[in-house]
Amino acid sequence: MKVLVLFGSPRKKHTYELTKAFIEGLEKDTEVEFIDTPKLNISHCMGCNYCLKEMKCFIKDDMEDILNKIEEADIIVLSSPVYFGTVTSYLKVLIDRCQPLYNKRFVLKVEDKVKKKGFLIFTAGGKNKRMIDSMNLVAKFFMLSCGAELVDTIYCLNTDDNGLDKEVLQRAHMSAKSIL
Ligand SMILES: Cc1cc2nc3c(=O)[nH]c(=O)nc-3n(C[C@H](O)[C@H](O)[C@H](O)COP(=O)(O)O)c2cc1C
Repeated sequence: MKVLVLFGSPRKKHTYELTKAFIEGLEKDTEVEFIDTPKLNISHCMGCNYCLKEMKCFIKDDMEDILNKIEEADIIVLSSPVYFGTVTSYLKVLIDRCQPLYNKRFVLKVEDKVKKKGFLIFTAGGKNKRMIDSMNLVAKFFMLSCGAELVDTIYCLNTDDNGLDKEVLQRAHMSAKSIL
C-alpha cells in the first residue's frame, strides 16, 4: 500500500506533528512518501488548456513527478494549516496543476478501477470551524480529481492559543490505524 503525503506548511510545527501522528498510526509495512511541498519547484497553472487535449501539462517542473506519484498512490493525505481561509499557497499551486487529473476523469471520463482513499489533515490558529469548511471545499474537489474517496478529515482549531491537544493527536493515529 502506497501512501502519498502532500504536506503544505512551511514550518515543521502543528500540522507536521498532527501529520506525524497519522503516519505513526499506519501499518509498519506501509510505503509512505512524504512530500514537503514548500521545497518543490512548481510553477502556477497558466490556464492554457494544453492538458485538455494532451492530458498532461506542458510545463516541465517538479509537478510532472507529483502527478505520477498521485496516480500511483493508494492513499492520498493532504495536510495544511489554514492560511487566509484555505490551504497554503504551496498546496494551492500544486492543486491547480492537477487539472490533467481532473480532465482525465471528468472530460475523458476514464474510470478508476480501484478508488484511492483520501485523508485531510488541517490546523487553524483560530476557533472558527468555518475555516475548515472553507478548506474542505478545495480539498474535496482535489480528492475527486485524483480519483480518491474522502475517508476522514482530522483537524485542530485554536492552535495559536492552545497548540495541539492530545485528543486530536490520538484521533489522527486511530484514523490511520483504521485503514484496512
Ligand atoms: C499567513 C497566515 C495566514 C493564516 N490564516 C489563518 C486563517 O485564515 N484562519 C485561522 O484560523 N488561522 C490562520 N492562520 C494560523 C494558522 O492556521 C495556524 O497557526 C496553524 O496551526 C499553523 O500551522 P503550522 O504550525 O503547521 O505552521 C494563519 C497563519 C499564517 C502564517
